[in-house]
Amino acid sequence: MAASAGHGGEYVLPPLPYGYDALEPSIDAETMKLHHDKHHAAYVKGANDALAKLAEIREGKIDPAAVSEWSEKLAFNVSGHTLHSIFWGGLGPKGGKPEGSLAADIDAHFGSLDKLKSHFSAAATQVQGNGWGVLAFEPVARRLVVLQVRNHQLNVAWGAIPLLVLDVWEHAYYLKYKNVRADYVKAFWSIVNWSAVDQWYALVQAKHHGPQHHGH
Ligand SMILES: [Fe+2]
Repeated sequence: MAASAGHGGEYVLPPLPYGYDALEPSIDAETMKLHHDKHHAAYVKGANDALAKLAEIREGKIDPAAVSEWSEKLAFNVSGHTLHSIFWGGLGPKGGKPEGSLAADIDAHFGSLDKLKSHFSAAATQVQGNGWGVLAFEPVARRLVVLQVRNHQLNVAWGAIPLLVLDVWEHAYYLKYKNVRADYVKAFWSIVNWSAVDQWYALVQAKHHGPQHHGH
């Protein structure tokens, strides 16, 4: 589920973990192909371009005044790469339900899965312009939170790790759903691959040394 990078520290577009048509009818194949092959690919390229420009600034090849522009592009594109990678990994044709510690923590922190879904759906549907609904693990309080992200990198909480995300940029749904974002958000819940989210959550928690959560 994590975003991909090469050994040289450059960003790499990961393959989709399923076919373009795997999420039909909730998300159509044409949208998936454009979304992954063009949009996600552009964020990967944009992140690498920003790294290269910032290196040129360090080397005195271009005006340091450009640091603001390329810093913003780095944040935007790296965040786009990260969120899209987690987005693909959290989807699948089978659906299912959260289990294990994720299910227990959803109940503990949101009251129930239905309450999480209502909260998350409201956050995603109401993003003004481009953005994301994000279920994240917040490691300071070791709790789950829902964030409403604008673009890819605004309105985030430092350190929070996305677990399940929904892209509500128009490029994610407009071919099929036109302006009716709420129908796309509703359809999203039938293609969440909860077992993949469970596995990602276990990995994220293990990395954050949760004594109460990960037994061996
Ligand atoms: Fe997107």
